[in-house]
Amino acid sequence: MHTSTPTTAGGPTTAGGPTTSRVRRITGLKPTGHLHLGNLTGAIRPVVDGQYRAETIVFLADLHALTVTHQPERIRGLTLEQATMLLAAGLDPDRALLYVQSQVPEHTELHYLLECATGYGEAQRMIQFREKSAERQQVRLSLLSYPVLMAADILLHDVHEVPVGEDQSQHLELTRTVANRFNARYGDTFTVPRAVHPAVSARVMDLADPTAKMGKTSASPAGTVFLLDPPEVIRRKMLRAVTDPGRTVEYDPQRRPGVTNLLEILASCLGGSPAALAADYGSYAQLKSAVAEAVEGILRPIRTRYTELARDPGYVRRVLADGAERARENAADTVHRAKRAIGLLSH
Ligand code: TYM
Repeated sequence: MHTSTPTTAGGPTTAGGPTTSRVRRITGLKPTGHLHLGNLTGAIRPVVDGQYRAETIVFLADLHALTVTHQPERIRGLTLEQATMLLAAGLDPDRALLYVQSQVPEHTELHYLLECATGYGEAQRMIQFREKSAERQQVRLSLLSYPVLMAADILLHDVHEVPVGEDQSQHLELTRTVANRFNARYGDTFTVPRAVHPAVSARVMDLADPTAKMGKTSASPAGTVFLLDPPEVIRRKMLRAVTDPGRTVEYDPQRRPGVTNLLEILASCLGGSPAALAADYGSYAQLKSAVAEAVEGILRPIRTRYTELARDPGYVRRVLADGAERARENAADTVHRAKRAIGLLSH
């Protein structure tokens, strides 16, 4: 899958943390549903592709999954499923750190310190908070402070880059703001990271409604290609994808969001530019068929490996336990530094 030429927002500033010549990156996935194509193109492929040139940290954000109504058993199951999927997609546990957020208590410890450097209004302005709180009658306080926990996740590890889909841009901007503010008030403490988005498919849209983002918890599964969907289901979803009025295949995000989404998915599977690929297809049917085939080509080996790994959950749990232990070493150092800077420790 093509993930070269990432676009970045803002530059990293190293402050306080250990000096490392290698780029360090982190990303997180929230176990609120089954992983889908958007998660793969927006975050999983970019970190897997980058793991041999950058120090890579990936975690399952189970604490974030508690910010909306949840079922305890389901969270446990999805956490293991997502960890298995990351390994199946090629994350190499000898190279990358993979762990579960709640197994590294420094995340919540730093969260509190960062809450003391974040404004209520800043948290309230987050688009995801506004959207998610508008959908619900009961809004958990943790939904409001969610982006502060996300800032803690990132700043804990002195990372330079955060590979994420476009929907996380605002949270990354808040992370940078909070880190800069903390550094300015209390002295250089955190490395200020930047978001990294894939060149294409940084926002995969729902196949049944190309004006909405493809998501784990979309109203209808028809618009979401899950990574474990069987081949015939993937094909059916692709062939039924909502396209646009008109018959020619053109890349036009404004006027042709449905076709543009399909071209972006195709480009992220095959490489090349979505606008140039448009010329190869004479009809929507041809394009849909090509996208179905390209996506199946990417997902088949991941599915096969997932089936093998899922037979040995003990192995996946051992990888996670080992990852948590290693993650804590660096995390404890960052929390110590932040506590000292903010006035809680004398040395
Ligand atoms: P989550 O679990 O919603 O999504 C995981 C990753 O997948 C990306 N993504 C998409 N990319 C392209 N198109 C889509 N339709 C699409 N849907 C999701 C997301 O941008 C994300 O990169 N808040 C995060 C989890 C998190 C995190 C962090 C990420 C918690 N702490 C620290 C990075 C760093 C979330 O809910 O991701």
